[in-house]
This record gives sequence, C-alpha cells and structure tokens, in this order.
Amino acid sequence: MISGTPSLLVASLPTQQPTGIEPFVGRYADDFHFYGSGKVALRDGLAGLVDATRQQNVLVPAYLPDGVVEPLRELGLEPRYYAVEPTLAPDFVDLERRLDDDTLAVMSVNYFGFPQPGLAELESIAADAGCYHIDDNAHAPLSVDHGTLLGTRGDIGITSLWKLLPIPNGAVLYCNDDSVSNRYEPSSLAGIRGNVDTADCRYILKSVLQEFLDTAPPVRHSVDALLARRRDDSDTPAVGTPAERYEAWKTPMSKLAAYLASDIDPTEIRQTRRENFRTWRRVLDGYDSLEPVFGSLPDGICPQALPVRTDDARAFIAELERVGVDGVHTWPRLAGNVLDNPEYGTATRLSREIVTLPVHQHVDPAELESVGGALRWE
Ligand SMILES: Cc1ncc(COP(=O)(O)O)c(C=O)c1O
Repeated sequence: MISGTPSLLVASLPTQQPTGIEPFVGRYADDFHFYGSGKVALRDGLAGLVDATRQQNVLVPAYLPDGVVEPLRELGLEPRYYAVEPTLAPDFVDLERRLDDDTLAVMSVNYFGFPQPGLAELESIAADAGCYHIDDNAHAPLSVDHGTLLGTRGDIGITSLWKLLPIPNGAVLYCNDDSVSNRYEPSSLAGIRGNVDTADCRYILKSVLQEFLDTAPPVRHSVDALLARRRDDSDTPAVGTPAERYEAWKTPMSKLAAYLASDIDPTEIRQTRRENFRTWRRVLDGYDSLEPVFGSLPDGICPQALPVRTDDARAFIAELERVGVDGVHTWPRLAGNVLDNPEYGTATRLSREIVTLPVHQHVDPAELESVGGALRWE
C-alpha cells in the first residue's frame, strides 16, 4: 500500500545527526517566523500593511483552495481572483484588468513545489503598480530555484511545513522586505508552543493507529466501511466551511511539530521526493490520456506531488486505489464564486482534471514500479 502522506513512525523520530528546518531556512532568509498554519502566517504578515481607511483588495489566482482567502477576509481585504492559463501561469491580461489603486498585493503560487510559471512577469507588474508581492509557497518548503528558496521572492512569503513533513502543523512566514519586517507585529498565534498539548498526543495516537491499519488490511477494510457508513448516516458535511477550517487551524506551531522538524534532513527528503517523482513519470510514460503538468524537474526543486492531467480523474483515482495507491485526489477544492463564474473556466477545468500522486519520502520506488506493472489504464 502506498499512502497519501508521510508517516510520523517511518524513520521520523530524531536521529543522531540533527539537521533541521531552522538552519536550512536560515541559510536563505533573514527574517522568518514560525506558525501553525500558512493561512495564519499570511494574516500576520499582511496585518501591518493594511490601510484601514479604504477598501483594499488582494489579487489571488482563481486556481486556489477555497480557504486561502479567509485571512484576507479577516483583515477586511477583498480577495479578487485572477484567471490562470492551462500552464498555471497567471492570465496577465485578466490580472492587469483587475488591478487598481486599491490593490494592496498580488499573490503568486508555487504549485506542487515548482515556481509558478510567469513569476518574473508577475513580480514586475506588482513592482510597477507599487503593490506588495505575496509569494505563496505553501507547497514547497524545501524547493530552491537558482539559489533562492521559494517563498523568499515576494515581499511576504509563506510556506506550510506540515504539507511536506509528518508533523501535526507548522508553517513559516517570510518577511523579505524591510517595510514588511518593520511593520510586522506577531500575534498570539506566532511562534512555537511551550508544551506538548493534547493535539500533539492525538496526532501521535492517530499515526500509530494509521500505521497499524496499513499493516493489517482486513482491519483497515472494516474500519473504512464503518466510517463510510457513519458518514452516510450523518446530516452534517464531512468538511466544514472554509471559515470553520481556518478557525480550526488557529494555533501556534506545536512543540511536537517543532521537535520533529528540528531533526529532518532537507537534502535527503528532497532527493527522495525527486527520485519518486521521476519513477512515477517513468511508470506513467506511454499513457496518452495522462498529461504531466510539469515537463521537467529542475535542479533544487522538491516536488510536493506529481500532478497529472486526465479527462477522467474519477476512473484514474479508482484504478490507483485498486492497485494500492492511497490518498490520490483532484486538487484543489475551489471557492464557490470561482466555480460559478465562467471567466474562471480554466481554473475549474484544472481542478477537475489535475490529480496529485504521492511522492513523499516514505514512498518506496520499488512499490511504484510494481504499481506500474499492475496498472490497467489506456
Ligand atoms: C496554495 C496554498 N496556499 C496556502 C495554503 C494554506 O496553507 P495552510 O493549510 O498551512 O494554512 C494552502 C493549503 O492548502 C495552499 O494549497
């Protein structure tokens, strides 16, 4: 079984050769702060820049998870979506049309661990317009592009450590510009908790249970069936609203997350993910109905996943599940007002067609090869 996310229990507990995230980030960034989630990091980074005397807006790509605009709303900013191209680059005509004197910032997104196509042009548009550039690097904490850590190119950057590492939470805010640094005031959600809390304990228990279920398929099957029945019986939706999810993640980085993140080896994780990315590419090469989103894997890039496009995502996911690949899904869950608006047709289509395959550090390349052998796909 190939799981969708890395496990706390697979060689994650501190070893004899501590390396850690902080010294790694410190090599590339001068002013950075830990948080529990990228969204809260974004809120705190922007808070000091807002001019409360007018209604300001922030331009964000339409191809974006629905919850990412919640911190903007909390700060009284209007999130304004710009259209994207099939390459994931901004549609610059659309972007410039939406930009005005009240635009506080323009956001780029380094999707799936790669620099967003068109990043340099976006940077220069933001500079010409005199607004801030937010470098949303939620997916790529360890990606280094020509010597620059992704997330440190904008005036403000964020990255989500918990998306890459088996930790309960954790994110970083980068203040890359003096005016951002000078106006930054940490809220009570900045930093690392002093003590291990109940959420940490719950995370450990969940990881142990997950590991047990992965090694005992019949028990896992019964538990999955039980949970599916429970969901069917329930009137409440399985996921809350974007605002509820944002609120639920309002926590500083936990003590457990900081402890685990202090011991990772960024170089090793990057190498393993790159190897898994390439193995998937080889395994899926030759299927005409699967189109890789990225044609190459540049040096220094640490992929978050292997994104591929397909017309029939549902059937492809079902086939992957049949051959033992777990946690594959389409990405992302878009905001309702993006889905309803034909101007964002490309983002909507991409969100239905892009499927993300796991390349995390605990995927065994040999297992990927055997998945390739078992896969029945056109
Ligand atoms: C592109 C992007 N930006 C920001 C975020 C928010 O990060 P976090 O979940 O750490 O708040 C996400 C989360 O999925 C994301 O995909």
